[in-house]
Amino acid sequence: MVGARPNYVKTAPVLDGLAELGIERVRVLHTGQHYDETLSAEFIKRLGMREPDLNLGVGSGSHATQAGAVMVGVERELERRRPDVVLLAGDVNSTMAAALAAAKCRVPVVHIESGLRSYDFSMPEEVNRVVTDRVAELLLCHCDEAVENLAAEGIGGGAVSMVGNTMIDSLLRVRDSVDAEAVLRSHAFDAEGYCLATLHRPALVDDPGALQGVIGALGEISADLLPVLLPLHPRTRARMDAAGLAPTASLRLTEPLTYPDFVALESSARIVITDSGGVQEETSALGVRCLTYRPSTERPITVSLGTNRLVGRDPEALVAAAAEELEAGPPGGEVRIPLWDGVAGPRAAAAIAARFG
Ligand code: UD1
Ligand code: UDP
Repeated sequence: MVGARPNYVKTAPVLDGLAELGIERVRVLHTGQHYDETLSAEFIKRLGMREPDLNLGVGSGSHATQAGAVMVGVERELERRRPDVVLLAGDVNSTMAAALAAAKCRVPVVHIESGLRSYDFSMPEEVNRVVTDRVAELLLCHCDEAVENLAAEGIGGGAVSMVGNTMIDSLLRVRDSVDAEAVLRSHAFDAEGYCLATLHRPALVDDPGALQGVIGALGEISADLLPVLLPLHPRTRARMDAAGLAPTASLRLTEPLTYPDFVALESSARIVITDSGGVQEETSALGVRCLTYRPSTERPITVSLGTNRLVGRDPEALVAAAAEELEAGPPGGEVRIPLWDGVAGPRAAAAIAARFG
């Protein structure tokens, strides 16, 4: 089951791994949480993922509206098909709601990217992670910290499997196939380099003052340090329009980028500024400096072993940190987080086959 942009990137390698094992009786259900072409159909196509067999079309709404619609649609489908397992990824509302529906239908849940914790329950994703992990029967982890977090909640033994980061399988495959030079040329970036930014967390973009602060900081960086490209998530675009924010002309805004274009620009950026979960991981795997505009992260391994730095939610600190990182130059040495190696999908598929036959 998939529902939102980051789900596809994490799930596709596991579907490929299952196919390699000869497990062909797979149906892909899309909840329709994300429905814009750029966040859904076009994204899936450019990622090269198998097309969904069914889209529930739940769309946008409050948390309860969205989760309720997913539960009703998933329950109906599970009763009709009685699958052996339901495969879910990440921490979006669709994941949590499908996990609950499956648990109540007594269909085992496999959770890709289990065990991440920010310990900040003001984030909807933290609620989604904890609930999904609590009802999952096979918890696939991508780092030791995740395994330890689950152990601290009394979840362990044969239910937990450390398979590595399936998102990095997609990343490395697409990075190696995209014509990065052509993508950079199409954005007219020169040898001086550029910064790639993404912002979409409600705690930031739904607060007009906080949003104005970060857009101002990105404007300052783009005017004084280096060009900044900000592909706008629809939530962010809507909040900027509602707040009547007019960024400085030097800050370049675009629609959400296709996955290959985003990966190409991310791989070659001098720095990335983000509040995304997945982008913290991708930059660490690529060895690109990342400034995370959040007070906490559920992915501390990207700070301890990767290239990530938490800068809190302070516009002045962001501008200062960007200047420091640019001064420091590219990170030295190879960045290697264990099992973020491009073959986590086959390991995840093997764990599923071993557990459920
Ligand atoms: C969701 C996830 C978040 C994830 C993000 C990935 C939850 C609670 N949040 O956030 O964890 O990081 O996806 O991108 O599940 N909208 C559109 N077109 C779309 C989808 C959404 O215009 O195709 C707009 C709507 O105005 C909608 C708003 O974006 O109300 C938010 O969409 P929603 O799916 O609720 O959450 P995201 O912010 O996308
Ligand atoms: N991404 C993309 N185009 C964009 C922004 C992000 O392809 O314009 C990809 C990015 O490479 C990563 C995923 O979307 O694989 C991350 O999704 P997002 O930041 O929306 O969600 P999160 O990871 O925060 O849940």
